[in-house]
Amino acid sequence: MRARIVLFGITLAFLFIYGAHSVTITVTNNCPYTIWPGVLTSPPQPQLSNTGFELASTASTSLDVPTPWIGRFWARTGCSTDGSGRFTCATADCGSGQVSCNGNGAVPPASLVEINSVANGGQDFYDISLVDGFNLPVSLAPQGGTGDCTAPSCAANVNAACPEELQVKGSDGGVISCKSACIAFGEDQYCCTGNYNTPETCPPTNYSMFFKSQCPQAYSYPFDDPTSLFSCFGGPNYSITFCP
Ligand SMILES: *[C@@H]1O[C@H](CO)[C@@H](O)[C@H](O)[C@H]1NC(C)=O
Ligand SMILES: *[C@@H]1O[C@H](CO)[C@@H](O)[C@H](O)[C@H]1NC(C)=O
Repeated sequence: MRARIVLFGITLAFLFIYGAHSVTITVTNNCPYTIWPGVLTSPPQPQLSNTGFELASTASTSLDVPTPWIGRFWARTGCSTDGSGRFTCATADCGSGQVSCNGNGAVPPASLVEINSVANGGQDFYDISLVDGFNLPVSLAPQGGTGDCTAPSCAANVNAACPEELQVKGSDGGVISCKSACIAFGEDQYCCTGNYNTPETCPPTNYSMFFKSQCPQAYSYPFDDPTSLFSCFGGPNYSITFCP
């Protein structure tokens, strides 16, 4: 008992000295329809208690995220529960059969928000990525940090401009998402794999340039860092808006 009290005291002192850091990530749905955001935490950190949730049009949800944290957010669209109780989505499904994604990522195509939030007010990195394609517009804004802290936005309706060979169509025949060339063709030159695995050997392609023209602040291919990766100091909170 005594040892436990001492241990508790030490833990409190540790938290007091080093800080129990967390950041608030707020997700807002500005789309005129319901979406189901998903959250995937990268190892070694455990998944958050909330790995997926429903978000009605104009609603917001805030998550308290312990730092350091590396992970991604996306949003599923066109979701429903079938007769056997299985939850599935027309875009960016996570294959869990539930609203919670439970450690599963999005099945591409999916517009991704990636956040690397460090502890103790160091340098965060964050981006919007269309490397796995696009399903809906999204923006990301750090709040309360210092430094560059650019708020990237991918507001274009990429689906409306998607080249035929990259289109994913819904049951009504409309384009519901747009594959990246890597997802559509799986070739090294588009995925920057194999002999194309360096920035020098994997330049932009006509397909990545299509995504870049639509969303200049988002990753259009894996080595798009110079115009797509942003940073901010001081442990900012983040605001993610779908259909900004
Ligand atoms: C983040 O939001 C929390 C409230 O949710 C606030 O206490 C904190 O000061 C904010 N952090 C920054 C860096 O603005
Ligand atoms: C990209 O180039 C390929 C051949 O190099 C061509 O078949 C395709 O139509 C082009 N796509 C776009 C969107 O320009």
